[in-house]
Amino acid sequence: MWSKKISFDNGQLHLDGISAKQLAKDFGTPTFFIDEAEFRLRAKLWNDALQDNFGSSAGSVYYAAKAFICIELARWIKDCGIGIDVCTGGELAVAIAGGIDPAKIELHGNNKSISEIQRAVSAGVGTIVIDSLFEIERVSASAKAHGKTQRVLLRLTPGIEAHTHESIATAHEDVKFGFSIASGAAWSAVLETRKHSSLQLCGFHSHIGSQILGVESFGLAADRLITLLARYRDEFGAQLPELDLGGGYGIAYLPGETDLDPQEVMAALAAQVKKACAANKLKLPKISIEPGRAIVGPTMFTLYEVGTIKDVTLENGKTRRYISIDGGMSENPRPALYGAEYTSVLANRSSNAEVINSRLVGKHCETGDIVIREIDLPSDIAPGDLLAVPATGAYGRSMASNYNHVPRPPVVAVKDGIARVILRRESEADLLGLDI
Ligand code: LLP
Repeated sequence: MWSKKISFDNGQLHLDGISAKQLAKDFGTPTFFIDEAEFRLRAKLWNDALQDNFGSSAGSVYYAAKAFICIELARWIKDCGIGIDVCTGGELAVAIAGGIDPAKIELHGNNKSISEIQRAVSAGVGTIVIDSLFEIERVSASAKAHGKTQRVLLRLTPGIEAHTHESIATAHEDVKFGFSIASGAAWSAVLETRKHSSLQLCGFHSHIGSQILGVESFGLAADRLITLLARYRDEFGAQLPELDLGGGYGIAYLPGETDLDPQEVMAALAAQVKKACAANKLKLPKISIEPGRAIVGPTMFTLYEVGTIKDVTLENGKTRRYISIDGGMSENPRPALYGAEYTSVLANRSSNAEVINSRLVGKHCETGDIVIREIDLPSDIAPGDLLAVPATGAYGRSMASNYNHVPRPPVVAVKDGIARVILRRESEADLLGLDI
């Protein structure tokens, strides 16, 4: 939930020795603070877990840029030696601007535009994950035009109900992504892809959903992909060399929850993959994964300032305290979109006051602008106090909007006791600059 460099001194939160008060003074609120060392460590731990458990059949860790990306973060990814998964031209542009070797970039998306495909092919993107029959034609035409043979994977729908919110489960049958294995669409896509000499079919991809806390569904998806590898080998006498099993590894948001452990997940996955390959008499394919949330989620917290406080009497006679902070659903839409739950602490001082049932709300003009629906917070919290919300690194800043013309917050990196802006705060001038 909190990164390792977070400590509390006399009740005041510190990141790598810098107090919350100092951070708020220097950078304003709301602001996302990222623990750089923790990001690098988590990228390494996932990479190590893949290498340790798959050995010579380890493919690549592709960090999922959609969780959060900016140019500086892309540089860290480059330093860590892992790859990156991008799903739009914009994410591709940031990855390239950060100096990531295009060969280590994988392009996703269920509706890549022709120009996005052309940019990716001409940049030399290592792998394109094909998501529809149209794309087979489009990627092939683009590769031909560039005189290249493009490495591709086919995104498959293994037909699995992942245990997570409906909007972020992606591998049951009724979804927009991929080719269904069960319906035969996947096999038709294989046959179609083989007709194109400018495409090199390297294997299959699946991503079953996000914020998944059990390990079984990942293994089940792998099983189904491996069954198709066997069918391919039986039909064509050669084995496709790669599988990419996507991301989705869950993290802790609330006290008492725990992150999925990279070594544990990879050990379970490796055991499952080895078993399924042995049963089908297949060589172990190269296995890649695409964690986003599990790398960046716990590395950031958001710091807010309390603005107003209001006590509301409920129908049952009890009181609910509404604490308004200077952000809300624009930089954290996850509670409104997915019913996501967060926790928060008073960050600028200690308090011995009794706790009171509170609701943390934003400054946007709608009732659903709730960051935390129900939380016990000290009853002496007052305007000007600072509140910190942990585990906001994934799908926070990356999904932030300008609702109500609120400029999006900056991201400030802290390392070795030094804080620096890596993505600046948007200004009203930035917003007005779009108007003609
Ligand atoms: N690979 C593919 C193909 C994906 O679609 C995704 C996420 C990932 C990898 C990374 O998944 P992760 O490891 O971060 O769970 N906005 C939602 C999450 C949407 C995830 C979309 N795809 C949320 O805030 O929970």
